[in-house]
Amino acid sequence: MAAFDPSQPSYVVDPYPALAELRAEDPVWFSADLDAWIVTGYAECAAALHDASTLRSDFLAVEGARWDEARRRSEVFLGGVPALSAMAEPNHHRMRDTISGVFSPRAVERLRPRIEATVNGLLDAIEPGEPFDVMGGLAYPLPRRVIAEQLGLVEADREPFLRDASRIARAMFGDGSSGEAEQALEAHASLAAYLSRAASTPGAYDVAGALGRMFEAREAGALSDVEMLALMVDVALAGNDPTACLIGNGTLALLRHPEERAVLLGDPSLISGAVEEFLRYDSPLHALMRIAARDTVLGRHEVHAGDVVYLLLGAANRDPVQFPDPDRLDVRRRSLRHLGFGSGSHRCLGAPLARLVAEITFGAMLARFPAMRLAPLGLEREHGFELRAPSRLLVLTG
Ligand code: HEM
Repeated sequence: MAAFDPSQPSYVVDPYPALAELRAEDPVWFSADLDAWIVTGYAECAAALHDASTLRSDFLAVEGARWDEARRRSEVFLGGVPALSAMAEPNHHRMRDTISGVFSPRAVERLRPRIEATVNGLLDAIEPGEPFDVMGGLAYPLPRRVIAEQLGLVEADREPFLRDASRIARAMFGDGSSGEAEQALEAHASLAAYLSRAASTPGAYDVAGALGRMFEAREAGALSDVEMLALMVDVALAGNDPTACLIGNGTLALLRHPEERAVLLGDPSLISGAVEEFLRYDSPLHALMRIAARDTVLGRHEVHAGDVVYLLLGAANRDPVQFPDPDRLDVRRRSLRHLGFGSGSHRCLGAPLARLVAEITFGAMLARFPAMRLAPLGLEREHGFELRAPSRLLVLTG
């Protein structure tokens, strides 16, 4: 029986050999340690994602002591309104629809000049000859600035708004300390105050952004106050870490595959395809959790109502049945139906924005630093089962 232990240092460094072994043995496997099913096959992950009423993501609504603490925190800090990714129909559809228009590929194009300016500003800060941490200096700050634009926040509101949203998230998923709880309650009050001030002050936000749509929906009765606040926090945070992971993983992939980097340097029009390959080759969101709403069959197994199921997107994206030669980075790969952004009704809402940010970032990095290399001992990682990326990625640009 294959060993599966995501806390092993060897798994943190490179999970793919262990995942390949597990998939070859059984693409749907029960881990007694995690008390959960581990799904590593592409077909099985895709099927699960497309059957959201059987394999549900709204864990806060599931009976049982396992979710009591999460439920309590959600009630206290967000009025019991879950994130879109953890919401069931019909509320999920109704709330997603209020903002989906501003996340379409055409709508996010309006941000291109500002994303380019932000990327260039961050790259301008690199000291020639000094090692540069791609994670701390670019990958993490960039998506925060982009989402502030996408929301339509004015300059003065950006930092306080994002700080308040992060404080709420920390209390939702943190160690449960009273300090975190206090900060989150203050943050909630300050976001509620922002909401009522912005609603009655002309020019308080850019009406073309996501906040504009939320205010319209609230006016029309499609969103309540408490839902709007939760949706603001969700949109402010949902894509930041995954986008940072994509930038980190893609940069590392190019550092380790100079021949593929040369292909992109020779033909920059291939960069948008390369972004899809990065999402497949080293997926930022490696695992999604689902809970069986009823007894069902997954692969060769009977999964029982209440069972926890982890869909390992990172493993599905290396399934040789779906992707020939899956462990090879190939920026020219065609018809890439990867699961890096999920699939089905909960597929990533921010995918067009993430793609645009990544395309601009890799384009600018390659153009400015064609000979970039990994600094000695420049790569560090921390344990992470759901998100995968370097924690530090030092490069030499000169
Ligand atoms: C490379 C970057 C990104 C990756 C890899 C990524 C990945 C994903 C995945 C796999 C899901 C599905 C979750 C599930 O089915 O449980 C998802 C959902 C979601 N993502 Fe992203 N995401 C990224 C960037 C973004 C950005 C920039 C935003 C902007 C706000 C965003 C907002 C969301 C939201 C709101 C959902 C929930 C959608 C729903 O349940 O209807 N994501 N993302």
